[in-house]
Amino acid sequence: MNRPTARLSSCLVACLLIWTPAVVVAAADKPAAQHDVTSSRGVVVSVSREASEVGIEVLRRGGHAVDAAVATAFALAVTHPAAGNIGGGGFMMVHDTSRCTTVCVEYRETAPSAATKEIYSKLNGTSRGHLSAGVPGTVRGLALGHEQFGRCCWRDLVEPAVKLAANGFSIDEPLAKSLNGWIKRLDPYPEARRVYSKPDGSPWQAGDRLVQPELAKTLQLIADGGPNAFYCGPIADQIVAEMQAGGGLISKADLACYRANVRRPIHGTYRGYDVFAPPPPSSGGIALVQMLNILEQFDLATLKRDSAEGTHLFIESMRRAYFDRARYIGDPAFTDVPVERLTSKSYARELAAGIDRQRATRSDELGRELLTATEGPSTTHFSVVDADGNAVANTYTLQDSYGSHVVVRGAGFLLNNEMTDFNLQPGVTDRDGRIGTAANLVEPGKRMLSSQTPTLVMKDGRMVLVTGTPGGRTIINTVLNVVTNVIDFGMTVRQAVDAPRLHHQWLPDVAKLEPGRVSSDTHRELESRGHKLDDKHKQGDAHSIWIDPATGLRHGAADKRISGHAVAE
Ligand code: DON
Repeated sequence: MNRPTARLSSCLVACLLIWTPAVVVAAADKPAAQHDVTSSRGVVVSVSREASEVGIEVLRRGGHAVDAAVATAFALAVTHPAAGNIGGGGFMMVHDTSRCTTVCVEYRETAPSAATKEIYSKLNGTSRGHLSAGVPGTVRGLALGHEQFGRCCWRDLVEPAVKLAANGFSIDEPLAKSLNGWIKRLDPYPEARRVYSKPDGSPWQAGDRLVQPELAKTLQLIADGGPNAFYCGPIADQIVAEMQAGGGLISKADLACYRANVRRPIHGTYRGYDVFAPPPPSSGGIALVQMLNILEQFDLATLKRDSAEGTHLFIESMRRAYFDRARYIGDPAFTDVPVERLTSKSYARELAAGIDRQRATRSDELGRELLTATEGPSTTHFSVVDADGNAVANTYTLQDSYGSHVVVRGAGFLLNNEMTDFNLQPGVTDRDGRIGTAANLVEPGKRMLSSQTPTLVMKDGRMVLVTGTPGGRTIINTVLNVVTNVIDFGMTVRQAVDAPRLHHQWLPDVAKLEPGRVSSDTHRELESRGHKLDDKHKQGDAHSIWIDPATGLRHGAADKRISGHAVAE
């Protein structure tokens, strides 16, 4: 395996750098997105055309699914700036066929060593800015995945992102809208405004070209110097200077000490399928397996997905799993998480027996606690399968859209605002969904609780489904929707991704439904059972791959809720 070297390259791309903010080259029509693809070889599905194409090119050159995932992740840091990142963190589920192994590469951010509960409890309501940034994990995490599974040279995986940043790419309508909406709110963040605005100050339009020369230089340093350029080298210096200028806490030692981990995934079974998803510090694996275990007690297929009875069981399972999430789950280095019990079939049977089949349980009868900050619409998930059947489900995030809004001066990238995923008000739990339990309070060096749930589903030892999504606390339920759509309701992956979704998170005690999730009769029936419903909801962006066990064919389905692009070798 080739390792990154510390040599600073003077290659062609560096020569192309022009030291200006975002540059518009020309407006040009962009080809329509491709949402579906079928292949007997590799498939990559992500929110971005350019990033999916970078990934598939790596597979064409014989790369492992993890190589493609690393290259796709770096490309998304350029083409999907609301969530693609090098200044955030995430979780990468990997299945390697030759080693017969399934692992979670965990690269969640950590609290800076100077972070205290006191500092953050005073910041309640402030979800952006320098203090909201955790120590980024993405670059170490991608390097760890590469070190464990990669076949390609590290530099070759970062260079495509360098080129996209240096040469620019044509933006689509959703990105133009997203940037325009965000830039309006950037008065307190002049560096972000400088980097992401059109030089003439006019609004972005589909077809404009976004060029990010400073990000290109940063990525070039990572291509040449590997993760140490970010954590111990020139980029670390820039991050620390930014923190000092803006009153943030991340220090040189925090960056130098940051480690990503290879962790054993949470494993559950569901109607003969094996389900693998991330362990703590994500709550995703535990809550997903817990909900599947409860639902397995019922014959969902007969009850029908959109019936009042079936929907009632989904809501009640979600309510119970999210209550336990709030009570028990945090960074396992700081909190004893009862993983075995929460994911056991016997506990699920107890919970299932406690469900009243006719009446909604009141969430505040289940317990009184909690507070968390609101969760914004931006994380991003992508799925990869290669010709050998190796699979990657990767979810990573800046937390809210565009993270802390802090762009590291001169380095052209955004820092996360992941500190807001801690329970910021110890002891404060309310019906609005705020959580104040001990498991997820701020402590120096601790990883904040996540809901990210990149998921791999296998049948008889063979991969069948690779999925995951953004969406804050809705993430786990979106994955539950997709998995049960396929397993219980016999949907194709296209139908499973398209089908309107349902979310309940214990508190607030409201079931959120995408339009069309239930009929108006079912809606009325659920209300008469005591459920509060909100059906003006939009949920997730689940770029997924189904591998037909009979033929081995891979069916990639891009979620159409934002944009999405599926490509094949
Ligand atoms: O890790 C988490 O649970 C959150 N930081 C994810 C945030 C998110 O998904 C935002 N929006 N889509």
